[in-house]
Formats: sequence, C-alpha cells, structure tokens
Amino acid sequence: MKDLSKIKGKIRDIRNFPKEGIVFKDITPLLADHEACAEAVEGLAEPFQNNPPDAIAGIESRGFLFGMLLAMHFGIPFIPVRKSGKLPYEKISHSYSLEYGEATIEIHTDAVWPGCKVLIHDDLLATGGTAAAAANLIEKLGGVVHGYSFLIELEFLNGSENLTSAFKHSLIRVK
Ligand code: PRP
Ligand code: ADE
Repeated sequence: MKDLSKIKGKIRDIRNFPKEGIVFKDITPLLADHEACAEAVEGLAEPFQNNPPDAIAGIESRGFLFGMLLAMHFGIPFIPVRKSGKLPYEKISHSYSLEYGEATIEIHTDAVWPGCKVLIHDDLLATGGTAAAAANLIEKLGGVVHGYSFLIELEFLNGSENLTSAFKHSLIRVK
C-alpha cells in the first residue's frame, strides 16, 4: 500500500472519550468517504492476497464494517463475533478486559469448521484483549487463526504481545 494519507486524514482523535485520558480514534469520517474505504479494504487485503483465509471473523461493532467488506473482497464467509446476549443460535463465550472496561464476546458454534483458517479483523488493536478473546473462541471451535488484521494499531499499548504468533497486520500504526 503506497499512500495512506487519504485514510489517515479521515480518522480523527476525540480526547477524553469514552473516559478521561483516552484518545479515541473515530473512524466515522472514513466511513463517510467510499473512496477512502475502498483504499482501506485494498490495504487490509494486500498482505493476505497470496494466502487468503477461509473466513473473516469481525468483532462487534466496528470490526463488522471492514470485516464484511474484506469477506466480500475475498469471496469468503463473514463470521460475526458479538457482544454478550446478541447472537440467537447456540454459542460459546469468552470474557476479557478492555482499555476502558470489561466485556464478553460470543460466537455461534456452527460459524467455524475444524481446520477453518480464520482471519480475525477489528478496526483497532489497543490492549489486544478483544482480539485474543476472539482467537480463543475460534480455537475452541477447532478453527485455526490464520492471522490478525486491524485498521489501526495503538502500538504504545503493546497489544500484539497479547496475541498468538499468527501473522499480524495493521494498516495504520499509532506510536
Ligand atoms: C473497541 C475496538 C476493539 C477493541 C480494542 O471496541 O473496536 O474491538 O475496543 O480494544 P482492546 O485491544 O483493548 O481489546 P469497543 O469495545 O469500544 O466496541 P465497539 O466496536 O462496539 O465500539
Ligand atoms: N478501542 C480501545 N481503545 C480505543 C481507542 N483509543 N480509540 C478507539 N477505539 C478504541
């Protein structure tokens, strides 16, 4: 991916949201620009182009946005990993800590088949708790974490250290 300036220019910092001391990365200006979104999908897909996954797991809610577009790009299933109490069918759960709180995520038991290579996608990697919880769910179902994909990584939180050794790609790195 050559020039990320268009995408970077559409992500704004909101200070002290949702809590004092957090600088929130707001991607809503990016979502409003379809050309920048198309560039983001291209950049997110690029490292996996020669070795694509079997499915994309996107994490609620912001991980759904580019996660579904990535699944469409590769022509593979999209798996929603949702916050507690939202999925209607048989499911498994995992609880974890966030940069600003606690959460539980869930996945349908029929979403992943044994040996299925799943690319975990989220908009942002902070502490890594959310992506690690998603990996835990996928592995519990017999899937293989093919890699991790993030639009933004907050490098100063060292979240990638909390993830398994699978390939990791972040389009935009914040130091
Ligand atoms: C945000 C973000 C990631 C997670 C990253 O989600 O979209 O899912 O936090 O943090 P971590 O690396 O410390 O786990 P949030 O829970 O705010 O939910 P949302 O996507 O519904 O806004
Ligand atoms: N999720 C966790 N930390 C975040 C941040 N600083 N901005 C946006 N989403 C987040």
